[in-house]
Amino acid sequence: MGCYLVTGIAGFIGSAVAGALLEQGHEVVGLDNLTTGRLEKVPAGALFVRGDCQDGGVYESALPRRAYDAVLHIAGQSSGEISFDDPVYDLRTNAESTLRLLRFSLSVGCGRFLYASSMSVYGNPETPVVSEDAPARPLSFYGVGKLASEHYLRLYGQYGIRSTALRLFNVYGEGQNMENMRQGMVSIYLAMMVGEGRILVKGSPERFRDFVHIADVVDAFLRCLDHPESEGREINIGGSGRVRVGDLVDRLCALSSLPVEVEYRGGTPGDIFGIAADRSLASACLGYAPSVSLEQGLARMYAWHTSCQDAGTAPPAGTP
Ligand SMILES: NC(=O)c1ccc[n+]([C@@H]2O[C@H](COP(=O)([O-])OP(=O)(O)OC[C@H]3O[C@@H](n4cnc5c(N)ncnc54)[C@H](O)[C@@H]3O)[C@@H](O)[C@H]2O)c1
Repeated sequence: MGCYLVTGIAGFIGSAVAGALLEQGHEVVGLDNLTTGRLEKVPAGALFVRGDCQDGGVYESALPRRAYDAVLHIAGQSSGEISFDDPVYDLRTNAESTLRLLRFSLSVGCGRFLYASSMSVYGNPETPVVSEDAPARPLSFYGVGKLASEHYLRLYGQYGIRSTALRLFNVYGEGQNMENMRQGMVSIYLAMMVGEGRILVKGSPERFRDFVHIADVVDAFLRCLDHPESEGREINIGGSGRVRVGDLVDRLCALSSLPVEVEYRGGTPGDIFGIAADRSLASACLGYAPSVSLEQGLARMYAWHTSCQDAGTAPPAGTP
């Protein structure tokens, strides 16, 4: 059995990935500064270290120096919109953290590194469906930090670190933070619909996205660990394929038994108009194919969120 370091273990994606590793019988050490994460989300059985990936002291004393089989770097400020509030914070918490974790990996002799990158590296693509060799011209500070991190991964290849950057598209599903109203298109609209009976969409209904369920994202991370063909690559992880934002909103409204008021107004800085993943490389390198349809995924997330509301529990504490 292996031993893995998972950053962002108290967050949506990190907690789900760590939970899956533990279920397979591996040891997991988790690092998180609990900015957007919650302690209750850290899966039972993980060794939790509270600390910041950008803090050099964490690597000197707090993190156990184990023979890790891989580092899964999933922690990060995850909102393009928020990156405009404080670009320096975004740079430090995302790109600097990646650099420090790569140095740590090297220092403990860990040669495998997985990174939660983002479709944001592309900016507005020239074609609606992007493959990994499309030009990377991010439109947000967040996207710039993700792209910089990918380049750090590439540079550390020369020291023997075999890395994979998963360019995640719009991730959604049970366990998502339903209180962060500036990150996660599905979670924001669903929280508004259930909480207020209305959805305010900042931007056009004609925009389009590719929505990938958390179960498929976990599957993609796990596949990387036993598919060496993924090493040294950036790989798109999409799910639904191209879906209009207006269609997503209609699908959400159809789940509610109550009337929902929908308003389209304004926009957000750095927003991409439309993007969907070419999944050919993920299929070839990882044997990856999404298993949860958008219809199934939204129904599961709606049931989870409403049951948390009924039980009066904070949704972020729910298990996927
Ligand atoms: N959710 C998506 O749609 C999506 C899409 C593409 C990429 N990503 C990336 O996936 C990763 C996880 O996103 P998420 O949706 O789970 O977000 P999240 O906010 O639920 O989880 C992020 C976790 O990282 C922790 N964290 C943040 N900065 C940290 C730091 N400097 N040191 C230690 N811990 C830190 C937070 O406390 C939180 O627990 C992020 O890097 C994000 O950029 C997410």
